[in-house]
Amino acid sequence: MSEFNDFTITTDQTRFDLELIHSVLTKLPWAEGIALEVVKHAMQHSLAFGVFQGISQVGYARVVTDFTRTAWLADVFILESHRGQGLSKFFVKTILEHPRLQTVKWLLTTDDAHELYRQFGFSEIDATKFMLRQPNKHFNEALK
Ligand SMILES: CC(C)(COP(=O)(O)OP(=O)(O)OC[C@H]1O[C@@H](n2cnc3c(N)ncnc32)[C@H](O)[C@@H]1OP(=O)(O)O)[C@@H](O)C(=O)NCCC(=O)NCCS
Repeated sequence: MSEFNDFTITTDQTRFDLELIHSVLTKLPWAEGIALEVVKHAMQHSLAFGVFQGISQVGYARVVTDFTRTAWLADVFILESHRGQGLSKFFVKTILEHPRLQTVKWLLTTDDAHELYRQFGFSEIDATKFMLRQPNKHFNEALK
């Protein structure tokens, strides 16, 4: 779908390495302890993107969207071994250029990567206009 040096980005989930995606996400603060089945379910119901070097997956992100007005960018990561070489910038750029996502308004949350997203036109919003409701169940409980 999109290429950068020897890296490729695809939305073909049949190529994705679910175990790897899970092993990274479960250690990240916003998804700590997440079950593999939950990662899989969320992925299957999203437009998910993978970064590959050959057949090895080195990055992941998913977009929750109506393909019309709104998209939420979530679960973005690049493997530690591949950070610091501009890969996430290529990744975010490719996601934002997806032909089916050209009319959407983008939302995301980030603890510390504001400067990454600012380079692509994101800016902080007035938090008082946003409301958050916690789920009825923790994601791992929902499997029971
Ligand atoms: C954030 C992350 C995806 C960046 O990946 P990367 O491929 O190393 O990043 P790049 O080499 O493309 O550089 C990112 C750019 O954003 C900037 N940046 C801002 N905040 C950053 C952050 N928290 N981490 C890394 N880069 C950050 C860098 O300075 C760099 O800008 P520059 O090249 O103009 O100086 C990667 O560190 C990661 O997977 N972290 C763990 C998961 C995470 O925090 N994901 C983001 C959730 S919103």
